[in-house]
Amino acid sequence: MVSRHWNKGFPPGFFWGIATSAFQLEGSANADWASWDQTLAETPDITQHYDLYKEDLGLLKELGVNSYRFSLEWSRIQPEENVWDYEAIAHYQEIINILLENNITPMVTIHHFTHPLWFIKKAWHDDASIEKFLCYTEKVVSILKNVKYWITFNEPYVLILGGYLEGCMPPGIKDVSPALKALRNILICHGKAYDIIHSHVPDAMVSVAHNMAAFAPWNRWNPADRFLSKIAKYFYNHSLLDAFSTGRLRIQFPFRRAIETSVPIKGKLDFLGVNYYTRMHLRFNPFRRMGIELRHRDIEGYGLTDMGWEIHPQGLKRVLIQASGHGVPLIITENGIATRNDRKKIKFMKRHVDVLEKCLKRGIDIRGYFYWSLIDNYEWLRGLDAGFGLYSVNFETLERKPTAAAAYYADLIRRRSSV
Ligand code: FCB
Repeated sequence: MVSRHWNKGFPPGFFWGIATSAFQLEGSANADWASWDQTLAETPDITQHYDLYKEDLGLLKELGVNSYRFSLEWSRIQPEENVWDYEAIAHYQEIINILLENNITPMVTIHHFTHPLWFIKKAWHDDASIEKFLCYTEKVVSILKNVKYWITFNEPYVLILGGYLEGCMPPGIKDVSPALKALRNILICHGKAYDIIHSHVPDAMVSVAHNMAAFAPWNRWNPADRFLSKIAKYFYNHSLLDAFSTGRLRIQFPFRRAIETSVPIKGKLDFLGVNYYTRMHLRFNPFRRMGIELRHRDIEGYGLTDMGWEIHPQGLKRVLIQASGHGVPLIITENGIATRNDRKKIKFMKRHVDVLEKCLKRGIDIRGYFYWSLIDNYEWLRGLDAGFGLYSVNFETLERKPTAAAAYYADLIRRRSSV
């Protein structure tokens, strides 16, 4: 959305924040991921954030952020289908209270990849999942007080690609037809959760956190590579946004007929949360699934992250332009880098924030930037050594130590905030 009022850079009230997710910090014995990844057997409570949360929230103060995105761990709140742990809900309320006492606006994610074990047995392609998720949503939204910003689902497409097409995330299925069913059920849940949240918090701001990426053909002279990158961009970035505008979801896999289905989410978006990390290069390869081979390449010399993702700050501009045509303000709900090299982390942050500032000056209505992440944590397909934190963690002693990027972010916030 183009704002006519502000084109001078960061507006007053801009959210400078940090994003985390519960499981990646706390673990949980009753979550599907706890047994999915054997490496967690030795570190079941990961950074012990569930006990050390006060110290960790103190780091937010040290950084001077004015907002914090975190998630609720469903499997702690509802360890069995008929068992509610009200102390766990009170724990998350305590986090909200501490944030508010420190003038930090909470943004709460209801679902960030993990599920209780009892839920994942049938998972999202079972229609009963809708009622189960909405029951959990109604419970937490009716109890938790003083939260205006809500994310229903973190990265619904990543959940489907990982859980239902690649099979690298729970429930570990590799099949298109349950994948489409699961996606539709998740979107139905978003639409209904949107209404539940608004019935309790009339002025709520509700979104999903949509992972968006830049795409490029492997070889720009090759028509098959160009075709694949166009298809991937529409599927990954745009199809969900169009569904929010039209109530219809159009899925086009390469070399297959497009599938179109109605999804009751039209207009059920108060802002758009954008998670941006990287660019992907696509090449046609008949020996790969759906003919797609995907790679990261260091084309512009910014390098790759420790997870092999291309550092591509200009991609942020591209996705923000793409996301801005949908009539709602944007918030960057995640952006960060896997590295233990502080200089690289600082450069990554600076370059992305510079791009963001240029987009604001073009008139794109962007309301916040949440850096991923506060402290080193468990990274889904990578384990404990990704190094996303502004504070590093020694996983044996659990000591948190500021990296140079923490001081840099604190300074950047001071310099770029409008008063
Ligand atoms: C995002 C996830 C987040 C984290 C970062 C690195 O896709 O939402 O949980 O793992 O990637």
